[in-house]
Order: sequence, then structure tokens, then C-alpha cells
Amino acid sequence: MSILVTGGAGFIGSNFVLDWLAQSDERVVNLDALTYAGNLQNLASLQGDARHVFMRGDITDRALVDRLLAEHRPRAIVHFAAESHVDRSIHGPGAFMKTNVDGTFTLLEAARAHWNTLQGDEKAAWRFHHVSTDEVYGSLAPGAPAFTETHPYEPNSPYSASKAASDHLVRAWHHTYGLPVLTTNCSNNYGPFHFPEKLIPLMIVNALAGKPLPVYGDGQQIRDWLYVGDHCSAIRAVLAGGRVGEVYNIGGWNEQANIDIVNIVCGLLDELRPDPAGPYARLITYVKDRPGHDRRYAIDARKIERELGWRPAETFGTGIRKTVRWYLEHADWVANVQSGGYRDWLSKNYAAR
Ligand code: NAD
Ligand code: TYD
Repeated sequence: MSILVTGGAGFIGSNFVLDWLAQSDERVVNLDALTYAGNLQNLASLQGDARHVFMRGDITDRALVDRLLAEHRPRAIVHFAAESHVDRSIHGPGAFMKTNVDGTFTLLEAARAHWNTLQGDEKAAWRFHHVSTDEVYGSLAPGAPAFTETHPYEPNSPYSASKAASDHLVRAWHHTYGLPVLTTNCSNNYGPFHFPEKLIPLMIVNALAGKPLPVYGDGQQIRDWLYVGDHCSAIRAVLAGGRVGEVYNIGGWNEQANIDIVNIVCGLLDELRPDPAGPYARLITYVKDRPGHDRRYAIDARKIERELGWRPAETFGTGIRKTVRWYLEHADWVANVQSGGYRDWLSKNYAAR
């Protein structure tokens, strides 16, 4: 038996592949285009492991997806591949439409054609698991109840609009064609292998380099942070026991303002790698806000707990300490991802702020 994972060289996908193979011998076929965000170094520990089959390729390549499905006959697709950074979607939305919308459409069509060739138990057990985000629900007012699975879709960025579109396609392929889909909408993740363009790893990496810590606007935007290993265990739980056609929200029950997150990271670095020049918080720099910046996200994760018994294993305190330690111990990984192309992005996003 095997599963087909898309985007398994990215942040969450690589954590998922590593966790999966740490708990099971079921083979993973990993389809990833290796964009700037994909990094095979994340999977270096699987080198020579026959349970991991890596294929460099694009999810918009229908012939390739058809070939992988026919050759490996996976019992499920777990679909992570996406353009995932809101700021990049503001500078260049085209890639988000291509991968997140067209790519999901291509996978759904290939999945439908493949699923229609199956019979009996194999057909009944087959799943398309779509990994999505809480950002599709838009922004919450202070004190408003957290997002449930029936919250209206109100995406505000090109990224969240493209993910919302993909969620709608997945829903329609179930209702129209009967494709056995599962959708999970998760809050902000953090943990090992997180590309240092996102808030938490960027703050760690910049602080260690003595660079400014850019906080957008007033820093009071709220996100609900979940350790990536908990996201992976939630996906496994939904894939194993989720009801076909259902949506499950996944979150950490941990709402924090951005500025508080940055201060927590600085405090941990002060403890674990003190800087003779003074506390890292001295580097905090308020910069121009992100256009259309959502004020607050919060996930109501009671459905997945009620139906599948899932709850996060990490608290924010344990998860962020592990994460900061991981970055301190993996300076080589950080140095490798800080390529020329990444430096160009930093000057594009931050020079004009
Ligand atoms: P990431 O940007 O770190 O990784 C994306 C991966 O997809 C990369 O390995 C990249 O090479 C690959 N990819 C991109 N375009 C591709 C294409 N056309 N064909 C094949 N592969 C392609 O993203 P992530 O943070 O790991 O997010 C994974 C998924 O989880 C995304 O669907 C995202 O929307 C969702 N999600 C992320 C978060 C978060 O906090 N990071 C939270 C909730 C949901
Ligand atoms: P990010 O990690 O980009 O995730 P998302 O926008 O998908 O939630 O950003 C998390 C929060 O941190 C978001 O409110 C934007 C803010 N932020 C900053 O204040 N400074 C930064 O340099 C970055 C990258 C993000």
C-alpha cells in the first residue's frame, strides 16, 4: 500500500512524510516541483529508504499525475502542494492561481479518472485529502467566536482566495462526481523546516544575525499557532477516520498577537543564545503594514476532537522551545536555504517598507 503526497518537500509536507514513515511502513510517493519553498534537504534522513519515492514534477502536469496514479496505485492523495506565502501572493498572484487553483483542479480530475477505474473495497476506501487553511474564512473581530467549519468563506488575500477556490473545487468534485474527499482547514503552523520568510523562523534567523525584526503595522494581529507535528497527527486522524465529504478545522487553541510571539522568541533566544550586545527585543522594528492584513484568526477545533479524539499534544510553550532549539542546532539548514533568490525576495518585500 502507498499514499501519494504532493508538496512533500515543503515545510508541512516534509514534516508529514517524516512523521508518516516514523510510524508506518506504508510507502510515500512524493510529488513536488521543488520551487523556492521545496527542499530535499528536509528529507535527507530518508536517503536510500525504499519507502520514500520522490518525483520532481508539477501538479499541473496531468500526464505525470496520471502516470503516478497508474504506476503506484496509492490508496489516497494527501495534497499539500501550494504557493503558501501571503506577501508573495500580493507581489505576484499568478503563481498562486496556477498551482493552488489549476493544480488542485488537475489533481481532482486525475483522481476522478483513477478512482473511476477502481472497484469494491479499493474504491470504497480511496481518499483525496485536501490540506487547506483557516485564512479562507477571512478576518475575525475581537471577541467574535472562533471559525467553525460552517463559517462563511471571506478570503481577503490572493493566497487565501486561491485556497478558497481550491476548497470549493474539492467540495464540488465530491457533490457532483462522488469523489471521496476530506478537507482540513488549519491555523498557522510553526516548527522545524519552516522557511525563514514566515514570521517565526524569520524572527529567529534575523535575531541571530543581529538584523531588524520587522513587525507589520501595530503588531496586534492575532493568529492561532499550532506545532507542525500536531497538524501532521490531525491529518493522519482525519485520513484514517474522517467522514467522507466533511471538513475538519484544526487549531492549537493558542491565540497570540504577533508582537507577543516575537517577544517570546526573543526571550527564548536570550536564554539559549544570549547576545553580548543586549536583549534581542532591541531589534524589533515596526514596519509598514501588509495591505489587506487580516486582523485575527482563531479556530474552533471541537469537531475533530469530538469525532476523532484529536487534540494538540504540544502547548505553545513546549512547541516554541523545541522550534527555537531546532533552528539553533540547524544553522547549516538555514544557511542553505538562504540562497541568492531568497535574498532578492527579502529586498523586494522589506526595502520599501
Ligand atoms: P510550503 O510553501 O512550505 O511548501 C509548499 C511545497 O509545495 C513546496 O515543497 C513546493 O516545492 C511545492 N509546490 C509548489 N508548487 C508546486 C507545484 N505546482 N507542483 C508541485 N509542487 C509544488 O507550504 P507549507 O507551509 O508546507 O504548506 C503546505 C500546505 O498547507 C499548503 O497547501 C498550505 O496552504 C497549507 N497550510 C499551511 C499553513 C502554514 O501555517 N504554513 C497552515 C494551514 C494550511
Ligand atoms: P505569516 O507567517 O506570513 O503567516 P500568515 O500571514 O499566513 O498568517 O505571518 C504571520 C503574521 O505575522 C501575519 O499577521 C503577518 C505578520 N508578519 C510580520 O509582522 N512581519 C513579518 O516579517 C512577517 C513575514 C509576518
